[in-house]
Amino acid sequence: DSYDIAVIVGSLRKDSINRKVANAIVNLAPESLSFRFVEVGSLPFYNPDLDGENAPEEWKSFRASLAPADGVLFVTPEYNRSVPAALKNALDVGSRPAGESSWSGKPAGIVSGSLGGIGGFGANHHLRQSLTFLDMPAMQQPEAYIGAFGGLFDDKDQMTNDGTRDFLKQFAAAFADWVKLHAK
Ligand code: FNR
Repeated sequence: DSYDIAVIVGSLRKDSINRKVANAIVNLAPESLSFRFVEVGSLPFYNPDLDGENAPEEWKSFRASLAPADGVLFVTPEYNRSVPAALKNALDVGSRPAGESSWSGKPAGIVSGSLGGIGGFGANHHLRQSLTFLDMPAMQQPEAYIGAFGGLFDDKDQMTNDGTRDFLKQFAAAFADWVKLHAK
């Protein structure tokens, strides 16, 4: 019996480096966590007029796949110093209808990754701002800003940097402790 973790990748790109980072974390994590990728790319934009019993099927199935999760791992790029719109939309879709948020109380881990040197700091912290309101305890340490990640994987998607691998392993172990502490 392991904890069920929904993994949400903020990039929709087929060759997303953030998705490779997410896969690496899944492979390095302790056995106490089992991971499922929950996709955000086909969610229609949130519009309260469409919500309720006749809400789009994509919203319903997204909410249903979050419901059983014991925790959520976000791995995201930074777009214009914030989170990609697709990820923000997913937060909004999951937060409604009012009083029925799918996120409430679920422990979260945040990893941001970037081609640049700042490691997606802006995205990481904008996401933290939303998670505070959504009542998701977001692990504070270790922080994970994966900078200059362009050369991190070889053409077989294997990680080429031992330091980053060690760091992601530590991050995953700390996240497992965090989930154990906060899971309902
Ligand atoms: C970017 N990128 C970027 N990088 C960054 O460090 N800070 C930023 O604010 C932005 N802004 C931004 C906006 C948009 C619209 C795009 C498409 C890209 C570059 C980004 O780090 C790079 O594309 C990564 O490779 C995205 O991650 P994935 O898609 O490889 O996971």
